Amino acid sequence: MKPETSAVAAGKLAANGKRPAKPVESGKPSSEGQRNIVERGKLPPLDSGMSSAAKVAEVIGDLPAMPHIASQVLGLLSDDDSNPREINRLITQDQALAARVLKVANSPFYGASRSIATLNDAIVFMGFESIRSLITTAVLKGIYSKVGLAEKLLWEHSVGCGLAARKIAQEIRYRRREEAYLAGLMHDVGKTALFLHAPEAMGIIMEDVYNEGTDFFELEQRMFGFNHALVGGAITNQWRFAANIEEAIADHHQLDAATSPAELTQIVSAANCLCHKLSVGPTKKPDLDLTRVKSLKALGLTPERIEKILSEVEETLRADPAGI
Ligand SMILES: [Fe+2]
Ligand SMILES: [Fe+2]
Repeated sequence: MKPETSAVAAGKLAANGKRPAKPVESGKPSSEGQRNIVERGKLPPLDSGMSSAAKVAEVIGDLPAMPHIASQVLGLLSDDDSNPREINRLITQDQALAARVLKVANSPFYGASRSIATLNDAIVFMGFESIRSLITTAVLKGIYSKVGLAEKLLWEHSVGCGLAARKIAQEIRYRRREEAYLAGLMHDVGKTALFLHAPEAMGIIMEDVYNEGTDFFELEQRMFGFNHALVGGAITNQWRFAANIEEAIADHHQLDAATSPAELTQIVSAANCLCHKLSVGPTKKPDLDLTRVKSLKALGLTPERIEKILSEVEETLRADPAGI
C-alpha cells in the first residue's frame, strides 16, 4: 500500500481549523502522536505569571458583550408579566437579530410543523422559553462567526450538543427541556473565548485534537493552566444565566470531581459524549462505548434508549440544523 503522503489524503486539519489546500508533510511517526503537543515542543506552555482567575478574566474580556437589544429581550423574557408585543417591539429594533431568530425558528432543529413568517408568530406559537433559546442561539452564532476558520466545526458541535441535550431531557422526562438545550448549546462557549483570545495556540490545539484524537480540556490545562469549561462557567455567570446552567458548563468534563453532579450537568456531559460518538465537531470518537459512559448510566438510560436517542440526533443533524 502506498504510504500516506499528505494531510489532505489523510483528511487532516490544519492549524487554522480548515483542511489544508495544498499537500503538506504528514508529520511525525505515530509514537509522537501519543505525546501531547506541549511535550512535543510544538508550542511552549504560556505562562504570564498571572493567576488562573486573572487569566480567565482576561480571556472573557475579549469576548464580545451580549448585544444590548438581546440582553434586554432576555431580561424581559425572564419576567412572566412581559407581553409578546413588547418583546416583538424590542427584537425588531435589531434587524440582524430579528432575521436570525426567524431563520432559527424555521430550521429543522426546531421542527416547526408550519412555516413561521413573522416574529409575532414565533413568539406566540413557540412561547417565551423557546424564544429565549432562539435569541441565545442567534447571539451565539454571531459570536462564533468571529472565530474564523474553526467556526464551522465548533458551531456544529454546539448545536449538536444542544439538540442531544434536549433529546435526552425529553427521554428522561426532565421538565426544563429548553434549559437542557441552552446548557448543551453553550457548554463549549469557553473554547470560542479562548479562540478569540489566543487564536494561534487554540488553532494548534484544535489541529492536534482533530488529527491525533487528543482532548481540548487536557491540552488547554497544560498550555494555559486552565480550560474552556472554567472559562465557559465564567461567561455564563457574566451573562446571568441560571446557576445550574453555569454549573453544568463549568463541570461538564469533571463529573467525578463533583460529589453528586446535578441532573443538568449529567445531561450536558452525556450529550457531549453522544456528539463525540457521532463525530459532530472536532472531537471524533466513533468507537466510544456509550453503554460505559457514566453520565448516561447515571441518567438511567438503557442501551436501547441510548441507541434511540443517538439515531434521533443523527437524523435531525442530517437535516443540517447547524446551517442556522
Ligand atoms: Fe467541552
Ligand atoms: Fe464539547
